[in-house]
Amino acid sequence: MPKKQLYEMHLDFLRSHDKEIFDAIQSEKKRQMEGIELIPSENLVSQAVLEAMGSVATNKYSEGYPGKRYYGGNDVIDIIENLAIERCRRLFNAQHVNVQPLSGSPANMAAYYATMNVGDTFMGLKLTEGGHLTHGHPVNFSGKLYKCVQYGVDKETETLDYDAVKRQAMEVKPKLILSGYTAYPRAIDFKAFREICDSVGAICTADIAHIAGLCAAGVHENPVPYFDVVTTTTHKTLRGPRGAVIMCKQEFAEKIDKAVFPGLQGGPHEHIIAAKAVAFGEALKPDFKEYAKQIVKNARALAEALMSSGLRLVSGGTDTHLMLVDVFKSKNLTGKQAEHALELAGIYCNKNTIPFDTRTPWDPSGVRIGTPVLTTRGMREKDMKEVGGFIVKALDNANDEAKLAKIKSEVKEFCAGFPFYK
Ligand SMILES: Cc1ncc(COP(=O)(O)O)c(C=O)c1O
Repeated sequence: MPKKQLYEMHLDFLRSHDKEIFDAIQSEKKRQMEGIELIPSENLVSQAVLEAMGSVATNKYSEGYPGKRYYGGNDVIDIIENLAIERCRRLFNAQHVNVQPLSGSPANMAAYYATMNVGDTFMGLKLTEGGHLTHGHPVNFSGKLYKCVQYGVDKETETLDYDAVKRQAMEVKPKLILSGYTAYPRAIDFKAFREICDSVGAICTADIAHIAGLCAAGVHENPVPYFDVVTTTTHKTLRGPRGAVIMCKQEFAEKIDKAVFPGLQGGPHEHIIAAKAVAFGEALKPDFKEYAKQIVKNARALAEALMSSGLRLVSGGTDTHLMLVDVFKSKNLTGKQAEHALELAGIYCNKNTIPFDTRTPWDPSGVRIGTPVLTTRGMREKDMKEVGGFIVKALDNANDEAKLAKIKSEVKEFCAGFPFYK
């Protein structure tokens, strides 16, 4: 776990240079510190990550790869990028790493571009059951450029039925199968996916954006060593800057690198790559394992607190950092109403569909919550009981703005006990 060391955000020059942006950033920091942040795809980065992101590495153009750039003056940038690659390789036990993808969606685009031809068929999980837009949704490039046959979860258990996925794969014969999700609270059996892919001759890929920190720490099965291609964002449980990486077996290395550059991107963002290297360095330290274990312990404690107050959780709980609360069934609130009420109480989450949702993604039946930020702030299981109490109280008073304002001041007081940025 990170020590109770307070991080600074250096904006001294900005304060006099651009007061409007300075004030807005200060207000955002205040919001982050005074509220309970439950969005499972967010985290708080260290001062070292912030400093690397704010460094002069942003000034450099470095199209190409270390040792093979299309611009001069890249000796130092090569050191930075090679450090990021090497640390990421060690962290995930990867054969090949590309640290240049700008974010999770372009990383997925590059992974598909490298492994499939336009029009090829692949399988990914439905958005409404936990998949991401880039996993084959019709409004996204992934559903427009490729033929995506989506799999779902079991109606009874609301979890993956690997036999059903296998049967579907045998019928569909996809070129590629993607696992790894956005809103799936249970552990993923990556070995089962490898077996399914082998049995139908599909390229075996995962998008571990959400659980990457857990995989790196050995708290969740890590698919990288035996999957063909794995993408991840670096800013979720992995606790780095906004961005992504692609890890793959050596046989896909050249195709992946070519797909990222020159296939899809121009100049890499080397200040972000420097910050990725810092975050990977932090994740290689022993206390990162403790942090990752604590995320899951906290999620279980929060799940228990919510369920014991009568809230229904999709699949009856969580094995990871996140859970889906069926607020429609539990409290007769839509996801949108619940998200709004919680926000008025200083508690941040996002509305989310639940499996077999009868409502729309814009106003679904659930909210998605998770524990990475609270864990980074140093909260433990006993604190999750309090957090659960705040959530339930806010949902019970969803139409009473005065009560929600009172909860917000209690939340602020509670959060003051877990400072992070000065
Ligand atoms: C599983 C998964 N993949 C990809 C992405 C997209 O990442 P980005 O928002 O960085 O494009 C997300 C975003 O939440 C995600 O959850």
